[in-house]
Amino acid sequence: MLLFPLPLRLFFFSLFLLNVQIASASPTNLNTNGYRLARGLPPLPPRDFGQRKPGQDPTPVLRARASPSPSSVVRYTGRLQVRSENRSTIGYVQDKSGLPVSTGSDLVVSVTASLTRKEQLNILATPTTTALPSPFYIGASTQSSSENATIGTGVATTLQLTNVTKTDALSKPVKSDNVDALVESAIWTINSSTKELTAQYVNPDGSLPSTFLVYDNADTQLYLVGDTTSLNATFAPVKLFIVD
Ligand SMILES: *[C@@H]1O[C@H](CO)[C@@H](O)[C@H](O)[C@H]1NC(C)=O
Ligand SMILES: *[C@@H]1O[C@H](CO)[C@@H](O)[C@H](O)[C@H]1NC(C)=O
Ligand SMILES: *[C@@H]1O[C@H](CO)[C@@H](O)[C@H](O)[C@H]1NC(C)=O
Ligand SMILES: *[C@@H]1O[C@H](CO)[C@@H](O)[C@H](O)[C@H]1NC(C)=O
Ligand SMILES: *[C@@H]1O[C@H](CO)[C@@H](O)[C@H](O)[C@H]1NC(C)=O
Repeated sequence: MLLFPLPLRLFFFSLFLLNVQIASASPTNLNTNGYRLARGLPPLPPRDFGQRKPGQDPTPVLRARASPSPSSVVRYTGRLQVRSENRSTIGYVQDKSGLPVSTGSDLVVSVTASLTRKEQLNILATPTTTALPSPFYIGASTQSSSENATIGTGVATTLQLTNVTKTDALSKPVKSDNVDALVESAIWTINSSTKELTAQYVNPDGSLPSTFLVYDNADTQLYLVGDTTSLNATFAPVKLFIVD
């Protein structure tokens, strides 16, 4: 005796086939949040979030905003904090002509880094006052275009850290469109965990000298040098960070 009429039995049989196909097309991963949610289970704990990596700087610097975008770049936005080697904060690069280091009207900058390519980066500044061109890049500049723009061991030359026009990554110093000076903008590297910015200057002959960032307490300005031993006593080596 037939329990069901034939059309209905075919229907059940096709349902059975469908089930088999679904099961074999998608191997079930019991460890996904989708699977757990569908069964009323709580989601899995996040894997690496919140765990401090060894050597990571546990300072407020870590709060600098980093917003990933779909095109595999990460943008850091914030202020430029200057710290002495003993980690005490000297001040912030100011939204004022000459970019002095102080407190008050801190300049807001952003750095966009590729997650896939390692290259020298630009610091893009967006000033709010009319004292500075908007936007501009923060880089190295000589006092005049006739100056020898070479830095290195035993060379006393100091390069100003100031507003400059954009130059290509690994570019030699280029004559600025705005002023009688040789400039470079794409000289920066950012440490993604500490948000420290370090500079690598390119000499006129294409060589890559050790590049030190120093602060002159006398004029509250930042400079890039190739040798810290010949500096006046008012200069001190410093570190630069991007912070909220
Ligand atoms: C970033 O800084 C930390 C702490 O100084 C250091 O341990 C780490 O090696 C740095 N990362 C890179 C890529 O330089
Ligand atoms: C850190 O160094 C700066 C100068 O580089 C100095 O003025 C300051 O007193 C030092 N702070 C500490 C806590 O040693
Ligand atoms: C920096 O900004 C000042 C003030 O707007 C401007 O006169 C000067 O040309 C700029 N410097 C460079 C190297 O572009
Ligand atoms: C610039 O200075 C460097 C280092 O002192 C020196 O080797 C080079 O010959 C100088 N270049 C010119 C064009 O004077
Ligand atoms: C160093 O100090 C001397 C005077 O003491 C001054 O003439 C010179 O310009 C200073 N150098 C720099 C790079 O500020």
